[in-house]
This record gives sequence, structure tokens and C-alpha cells, in this order.
Amino acid sequence: MPNLKLGDIVPDFEAETTDGPMKFHEWLGGSWAILFSHPADYTPVCTTELGRVQKLAPEFEKRGIKLAALSCDEVEHHKGWIEDIKAYNSLESFSYPIIADVDRSVATAYGMMDPVAQDSQGMPLTCRAVFIIGPDKKLKLSILYPATTGRNFDEILRVIDSLQLTAQKRVATPADWKNGLPCMVVPSVKPEEVEALFPKGVTVHEVPSGKQYLRTTPHP
Ligand code: BEZ
Repeated sequence: MPNLKLGDIVPDFEAETTDGPMKFHEWLGGSWAILFSHPADYTPVCTTELGRVQKLAPEFEKRGIKLAALSCDEVEHHKGWIEDIKAYNSLESFSYPIIADVDRSVATAYGMMDPVAQDSQGMPLTCRAVFIIGPDKKLKLSILYPATTGRNFDEILRVIDSLQLTAQKRVATPADWKNGLPCMVVPSVKPEEVEALFPKGVTVHEVPSGKQYLRTTPHP
């Protein structure tokens, strides 16, 4: 299983999708993107997930995020399933591609295979992987869920907000942070840099150690 690390350029590939052939790096262009995988077509949890992503499509678009799903079935299979996804989730349209990874080559290159889950023929299934890719084609975040646990796409939007903010400003986002809430100043910011970098002000929180590492600032 390859070990795709944060900061790696994500593997390029060519694949058939429900929107036609895809050359992944070309498709990425210079955009942020999410590649997310599914164990199989015509499965219940996946049907809710793909519908939820479609409903959130305007939120992803606002953040400049391209979307691509992946499942190990064929394109025609995906296209039939899309009709079920639309019907079950009361959707009029379905606007993002589903990659057909029949030979599991993409899943293998990205380390998406679930070591436990198998289909009825004993073929390995992909887990629910999420890869968030930056405009530099580097991996910014990955999350792996087992087949039996559907993803929380509000959380995925939340981490995108954090990733995009922290790519621009020298802040980090604390536990349970939501967009608009105060942030932590990263430890590498020197005290003499604080004023210029954070015109909204910085609070240094006193702690028993006397160390001045807990510095908060309003959302920059
Ligand atoms: C599902 O998407 O519902 C699912 C797929 C594989 C195993 C368990 C659940």
C-alpha cells in the first residue's frame, strides 16, 4: 500500500468518468480539489454521501473546490446509480464526475483500498477516503473512514476553511474552530512580528508555565 504523505504531489492518472475521460493533473489545473472514494455503487451510505455532496456543491464552489468521486465500478454502472442518487436525495442535477476505477489502479496508487472490506465476489473494496489537494497539486489533508461510517461533509467544509486560511495567514485553527472564530498565532511567529502581521490584535494567555505560546487573534 503506498504511503501518500501530506505535502506529496498527488499521483496523476487517466481514467474514464461519468463526465468523460479525465487526465487528473490536467483536470486539477491550478485549483483546490477533493477526491473522495466509495466502496461500491448502489450502496446505501454512499447514496446519501453523494447526494449530500451535490447539495453542498455551491459551498464547495464558493471555496473554489473541484469535486471528483471514485468508485471501482464501470461508468455505465455509475450513470445508472446517479439516477438513484438524484431520486433518493431529491436532486434535479448531478454536477461532478464519478471516476470508474475498475482495475483499482487509482485506489492502489492513493492507498484507498480497505484491508478488511470485500464485495460479494471477495474483491477488495475501497474505503471512504477523502483527499484534499491544493492548487500546487500537493496533498493537504487525507481522512480514511471504514465502509460502515458515512462522512460528515460539514466537517470537510470546515477543514477546507481552515486549510485555505492557514495557507494564507500565519495562524492555526483550534479545536472545534469554525470559520469566523478566533485563531491561534503559530509558534514560529516572533513577538516582534506580531503587530505587523495581526493588526486586529493578539491576546497572550497566561498559563502556569509562564510560557507565552497561547496567542489568539480575531479571524484575520
Ligand atoms: C454503504 O455504502 O452503505 C456500504 C458499503 C459497503 C459496506 C457497508 C456499507
